[in-house]
Amino acid sequence: MTELRDARGRLLRDLRVSVTDRCNMRCSYCMPRAHFPAGFKFLPRGEILRHEEVARVAGLLVGLGVKKIRLTGGEPLLRADLHKLIEALAPLPGVDLALTTNGVLLPKHAATLRAAGLARVTVSLDSLDADVFRAMTDSSFTPADVLAGVDAALAAGLGPIKINCVVRRGHNDGSVVALARRFHGTGCVVRFIEYMDVGDTNEWRRDDVVTGREIVEAISRELPLLPVASAYDGEVAKRWRYADGGGEIGVITSVTQPFCGACSRARLSARGILYTCLFASDGVDLRAPLRDGATDDELTALVRETWRARDDRYSELRALGLSRGKRIEMSYIGG
Ligand code: GTP
Ligand code: 5AD
Ligand code: SF4
Ligand code: SF4
Repeated sequence: MTELRDARGRLLRDLRVSVTDRCNMRCSYCMPRAHFPAGFKFLPRGEILRHEEVARVAGLLVGLGVKKIRLTGGEPLLRADLHKLIEALAPLPGVDLALTTNGVLLPKHAATLRAAGLARVTVSLDSLDADVFRAMTDSSFTPADVLAGVDAALAAGLGPIKINCVVRRGHNDGSVVALARRFHGTGCVVRFIEYMDVGDTNEWRRDDVVTGREIVEAISRELPLLPVASAYDGEVAKRWRYADGGGEIGVITSVTQPFCGACSRARLSARGILYTCLFASDGVDLRAPLRDGATDDELTALVRETWRARDDRYSELRALGLSRGKRIEMSYIGG
């Protein structure tokens, strides 16, 4: 297989698939209720790729070099029969298959997902404080609901688990150290994510970003941390380990230290649009050719051509003060 590289020499290695644009939470940084109110018109079923369609695209992308598939949403566990998609994806050769979820439906689904062939889950949890959590997720769920999901996933064999915590100044910056402490010594790796300007609805301001550096300093004051070399080229999270042997954390510093230089991620939206950057304003429609009877060769050629032309480096441009344009919402494109 010839290697597929984009215009900046970057390989195609990861595929993130959004399986639904719906969510049972309304996190202020992702789906603010003012823009996603009750009665909001989510994509009708016929607009969303069917499992067979996703599996077909994924299979073709694996043929082009994809080694890692992440299922996201919205909330992916709201998608009916998700285990059937996992059954179709798990046998793809050489693929690491995981899912990013808000966790509250894991007690119901973890065992089925594991049996279908899912390897791991990443669970989002922004605070252990019920009030902070409620405000941030704008939902009636509690941190205990998420922790029950984490336990269910561990019991089902879906570990080791990563916990994603988006840190937003004035919202949950006071929750960071407690989260680190809660998972210290458990084998779960908490990744603290700098709040990003994904989409156009969350009213992102640079001042709201708590930097990875601030986060590491705050945790280190109580639980000293040492840097760890990255596991592979292009790893998103910067890793730190506890000096006392209590495991590690990660910080995802897409704002203060962009990692576009080695970005190998393609994203497939629930509607079947292929995006080559999280901050893209448009992408290439794969659904129309899929439904118009395109052959595998035709679809592969379309993806290859799209990847070869790829020049995205939004986060680097943002750091240079050059970011612009309308951006697709996180719930359509998937984290
Ligand atoms: P592993 O691959 O197992 O580490 O887990 P994962 O796929 O859940 O996490 P990954 O490290 O790929 O991404 C974690 C989070 O980082 C995502 O949920 C996003 O919030 C953010 N992120 C991931 N990819 C990108 C990217 O390409 N650009 C930016 N700016 N942020 C990203
Ligand atoms: N900034 C940073 N991370 C975000 N996520 C969603 N929206 C944002 C944002 N604006 C995270 C979610 C989830 C992952 C898929 O992306 O919390 O963990
Ligand atoms: Fe839902 Fe996750 Fe977005 Fe929160 S961050 S609204 S849980 S998709
Ligand atoms: Fe990749 Fe775009 Fe994120 Fe840069 S901003 S790392 S190109 S997805």
